Amino acid sequence: MDKLIITGGMPLHGEIRISGAKNAALPILAAALLSEAPVIIGNIPHLHDITTTMELLGRMGVQLLVDEKMNIEIDSSTISSYDAPYELVKTMRASILVLGPLLARYGEAHVSLPGGCAIGSRPVDIHLNGLTKMGADISVENGYIHAKVNRLKGCRLVLEQVTVTGTENLLMAATLADGITTIENAAREPEVTDLAHFLNKMGAKITGIGSSVLVVEGVDKLGVDSIHYDILPDRIETGTYLVAGAITGGKVKLKNTRPHILDAVLDKLTEAGADISTGEDWIQLDMHGNKPKAVSLRTAPYPAFPTDMQAQFIALNCVAEGVGIITETIFENRFMHVQELQRMGADIRLESNTAICTGIDRLTAAPVMATDLRASASLVLAGLIAQGNTLVDRIYHIDRGYDHIEEKLTQLGATIRRVPK
Ligand code: UD1
Repeated sequence: MDKLIITGGMPLHGEIRISGAKNAALPILAAALLSEAPVIIGNIPHLHDITTTMELLGRMGVQLLVDEKMNIEIDSSTISSYDAPYELVKTMRASILVLGPLLARYGEAHVSLPGGCAIGSRPVDIHLNGLTKMGADISVENGYIHAKVNRLKGCRLVLEQVTVTGTENLLMAATLADGITTIENAAREPEVTDLAHFLNKMGAKITGIGSSVLVVEGVDKLGVDSIHYDILPDRIETGTYLVAGAITGGKVKLKNTRPHILDAVLDKLTEAGADISTGEDWIQLDMHGNKPKAVSLRTAPYPAFPTDMQAQFIALNCVAEGVGIITETIFENRFMHVQELQRMGADIRLESNTAICTGIDRLTAAPVMATDLRASASLVLAGLIAQGNTLVDRIYHIDRGYDHIEEKLTQLGATIRRVPK
């Protein structure tokens, strides 16, 4: 397994380009299954989760062509299987996103249950209940979801809890259903919005985009003409590099991003003492050489503070002035990074779903282990400010969600290298 070695202590300075959003690319690749004609998707990030999704679609018989700019052309007309096997789903829960499109377009799907996950139980009951309400016949046997239907029927769905991939699965399913589907208490994450725009570009009739009530008028066919669609920039990658600038007291400019989808994160960075300026597609953060101030926050569905930025802000609080209190409300077990940060000297106390962190002068390097995607990012951030060489093990988690992380950090002046196994 590859490892990262980071020598801490240098303030980051410079400019980098942000990649396309993983969490928009995954549902949009799955949604390509709904299209009659081939679709071309651009601004795809170089990530393991993208490779896994391509492998999943390829095994179904879908044809994929990738050009040198990472535009992917997807032609689903050659599909020959409606299965998402366990060995792929277990490495990437988002594989569940093929369920809605397969059922809507082909009337059949066999998708492995994602099972438990390091950050909590993460069930898929809301996905399954919604599809059942739309008329699907669903059974779960031997760890597989088997779903069948002649044609899904539009209906009113009130989601019990705000779920991102749940909303996306039901939204994709509803596009080809008979009649009108209303999804209430829908997730409003920008990645859901991006998917909805993609679906509409293929001919879907979705209104209420960006709100918590999505109304979908089913159509008979999607993607009769070939389309090209560029994925929106990754707000979590953007936020992570902004924290990298803040934690090191540096000055960074991130290009090809979208400031207005990061309001909650930018507000907290401003509170931490960062001087933030923005343009249409860039964000600059300048700490003017100062240490950050500790911030307190609660994670919640968009537009509130994202759970996917929680670990990075805990890392920030470790070396900030004062005490920061961070409460996680989305996932019940998303504090595995805390133990690792404590091994680097951090003063963090956990009380149920709250982490109380008292900033210290300097973290000290230690060998640490990445446990999930965003937890791993927090360890890299901690390494950037720690005294000595931090070795982050099991970085396959990072490669699932961060495009060329060591190259981008090197471009900002960090001392970081990958050590192959
Ligand atoms: C997505 C994101 C992930 C992010 C999360 C929350 C993708 C590929 N992943 O994950 O990066 O951290 O949103 O913003 O987009 N729940 C149920 N039943 C369900 C579905 C969800 O109880 O059927 C619960 C979950 O256990 C969790 C909460 O709802 O407590 C939110 O989870 P959800 O939004 O579904 O997360 P994902 O879509 O898996």
